[in-house]
Amino acid sequence: SIAYLNGEFLPLAEARISPMDRGFLFADGIYEVIPVYGGTPFRLDEHLTRLERSLAEIQLAAPLARADWPALIDTLIRKNGGGNLSLYLQITRGTAAVRDHAFPPPGTPPTVFAMASPMSAPAADSPDTTAGVAAITVPDIRWLRCDIKSVSLLPNILMRQRAVSAGATEAIMLRDGLASEGAASNLFIVHDGTVITPPKDHLILGGITRDLVLELCAAHNVPYREAPVTEANLRGADEIWLTSSTREMVPVVNLDGQAVSNARPGPVWRRVARLYVDFKR
Ligand code: PDD
Repeated sequence: SIAYLNGEFLPLAEARISPMDRGFLFADGIYEVIPVYGGTPFRLDEHLTRLERSLAEIQLAAPLARADWPALIDTLIRKNGGGNLSLYLQITRGTAAVRDHAFPPPGTPPTVFAMASPMSAPAADSPDTTAGVAAITVPDIRWLRCDIKSVSLLPNILMRQRAVSAGATEAIMLRDGLASEGAASNLFIVHDGTVITPPKDHLILGGITRDLVLELCAAHNVPYREAPVTEANLRGADEIWLTSSTREMVPVVNLDGQAVSNARPGPVWRRVARLYVDFKR
């Protein structure tokens, strides 16, 4: 596949960065994952807004003007043959001569990298045949700025691996008695027909898919609330869903080895998943 690195398009296998890159040394950078359907980026504006917010929050100057991202992204999509792709964008604080925690000298160019990977059909594409996935709960051991889409993902990696080792798909995090989100996804539950998702604050990533799901609920009169989800709410939920750009909406049918309702994707998930598929078209 073709990648973008610091102003150049080149085969991914030939892309090289320095071991002095602050992304490598410190995970000093941020990223975005943007779904591409039929060659068109989905919710690009929202992803670029979040990208600029992440940059601002870590005090890293935007390497490109807002208006210049779409052309770069379109070129990358075209060079990769279009279709359904997952587009990855990463910006780090660049390469400095010495390893020093403090920011490098002003004028140090950031490292800008993008690649496109094939994306398989998400669960929401087949709401009637989707089986759902298993999840486990884990302690949320992350820092207090989970709203920044930082490439510093070691806690998420450790908890996702714990889920995979347990034969599950995702780890759902618990902090101070509240469920926050998945290792790489946002959390929704359904209780008595109402869709509930934790509010956007510094303890979760403000998911683009999450926001769209809420928009669809609002537009189609599906009752919903942004409210804290306690561990008891989670374990007693009629339905549990996870959302992300790469997997859209995934129903969780087993939590910590216990069936969620009848261990099948629920009716509210099916309804909203259909709304999601229709919106995509
Ligand atoms: N992850 N929460 C976390 C911790 C995430 O890493 C992600 C996405 C989400 C969902 O956000 P969105 O709907 O904007 O994709 C929530 C991406 C897909 C990843 O790390 O690959």
